[in-house]
Amino acid sequence: MKFYVTTPIYYVNDRPHIGHVYTTTIADIAARFHRLCGDDVFFLTGTDEHAAKVVDSAAEHGVTPQQWADENAKAFQDTFAKLGISNDDFIRTSQERHKVKAQQYVGELLKTGDVYLGDYEGWYDAGQEEYLPENKAKEYEFKSPFNGKPLVRKKEKNYFFRLSRYGDSLLKLLEERPEFVHPDVRRNEVRNRIREGLNDVPISRTGGSDWGIRIPGDSEHTIYVWIDALFNYLSTVDTDERRKFWPADVHLIAKDILWFHAVIWPAMLIALKRELPRQVYAHSFWISEGQKMSKSLGNFIDIEKIDQYVSNFGLDALRYFLARYGPLGINDSDFAEARFNDVYNAELADKLGNLVNRTLTMIQRYRNGVAPQASDEGLRTDAETMVAAYRERMNRLDFVGALDALWGFVVRSNQYVEESAPWKLAKDPAKARQLDGVLYNLAESVRLISVLVTPFMPTTSGAIRTQLGVGDKRGLFAEETNWGRLAAGTKIGQVAPLFPKRT
Ligand code: MSP
Repeated sequence: MKFYVTTPIYYVNDRPHIGHVYTTTIADIAARFHRLCGDDVFFLTGTDEHAAKVVDSAAEHGVTPQQWADENAKAFQDTFAKLGISNDDFIRTSQERHKVKAQQYVGELLKTGDVYLGDYEGWYDAGQEEYLPENKAKEYEFKSPFNGKPLVRKKEKNYFFRLSRYGDSLLKLLEERPEFVHPDVRRNEVRNRIREGLNDVPISRTGGSDWGIRIPGDSEHTIYVWIDALFNYLSTVDTDERRKFWPADVHLIAKDILWFHAVIWPAMLIALKRELPRQVYAHSFWISEGQKMSKSLGNFIDIEKIDQYVSNFGLDALRYFLARYGPLGINDSDFAEARFNDVYNAELADKLGNLVNRTLTMIQRYRNGVAPQASDEGLRTDAETMVAAYRERMNRLDFVGALDALWGFVVRSNQYVEESAPWKLAKDPAKARQLDGVLYNLAESVRLISVLVTPFMPTTSGAIRTQLGVGDKRGLFAEETNWGRLAAGTKIGQVAPLFPKRT
């Protein structure tokens, strides 16, 4: 099976922060899970570069927009590389391969009459590069809901996309394929807004700047940055080798950009007669230390802050925290230092780290570092129940649920150590076989856990496997999750704490 997952392409004018890192990490987890299952995965992220702000910032810095974009795109690329993100490509909308395709798509829409030239006047949010509908502009007292700056009244000749044609098709789509927009609350929001009626949307701008992709056959208008950006999902895979990946299996985004992804994008794809993505998954937001992140409040989790967490706790601890406590559902999540510290100690050091460490230490002490023979089914049923729940939840991108199931099993295994008290069995030679069984079951559960943490904590997974002596190489999910795969006689490696406790 193929699996194509995308993140939003990030504004190149921003510096990477926890929000960008979050969506990209979540996509990375999905990609790694599907690779583990043997799927043919394509994972795309990138930068959105044609915003007007780029021209202004470049001018302020005395460089060309392209130079400015190059420099800032690199910051995103470096950040993602440093965070071990396994994207298969990084699309930049200023790349020729994208520009050619975006023009081609607009050309097709001009031919079908889905794009036409008309007049537009409305309230424009310059920071967001978008027009607000009259009622919204009023509701926000003619100020940007994002940065509070006054909206500007703007009038221009514009190319429009005939969105008004597609209301019924979109409602039908949401009816027939409810999973198209996830979570449900977001689907309902979208449906209600479509029912209020759809206006045609302006998809071009003028402004004298060359920065942007030209509307084909027009020397003044460039394609509005949002339309240009949405095309990235298609343009990147619209080649002979990659066409097999379309449609995208999931577009991961946050709720701020739902309308573009759940309404405008599918309408354009219907107009282009292309298959629709299977899902748009709109998560909520990270806030920080209980409040909306803001530079002036000093609670902004920028890339320097992220680096600090990585050097204090390790990259995998950050990935774990993001995945387990992140805003995948409908509620916002709080990124707080004290909480991070507690989670690290309680869940990584005391639960997972402890299980691995005590299991391997006991095998060293009681069995000379060699995994013994199994003698009973010990933890098997617990493991099988957990694996089934994990798989089903991972397939639905319910990472919180999958980690709940997995950590439930870690807790269960620790409990099993207490119940079976290997230190007592070790004192009685008549119980040698029983002790073998207990140690085997624990080692097998550690092996299984090493496989299932792979998408979330790839480095930790490797470290556990090296300590256990099974090597970093993994088979596919289906075979690796068979209970009893660990060979008796496996010589364990050097044992070291995975998550040293923090104070
Ligand atoms: N360039 C557009 C997207 C075009 S996609 C065709 C854009 N860029 S952005 O840089 O503003 O990124 C927005 C995305 O960043 C959100 O949808 C989300 O994925 C992520 N996040 C930004 N802030 C966030 C939080 N505070 N919390 C979680 N994710 C957030 O919009």
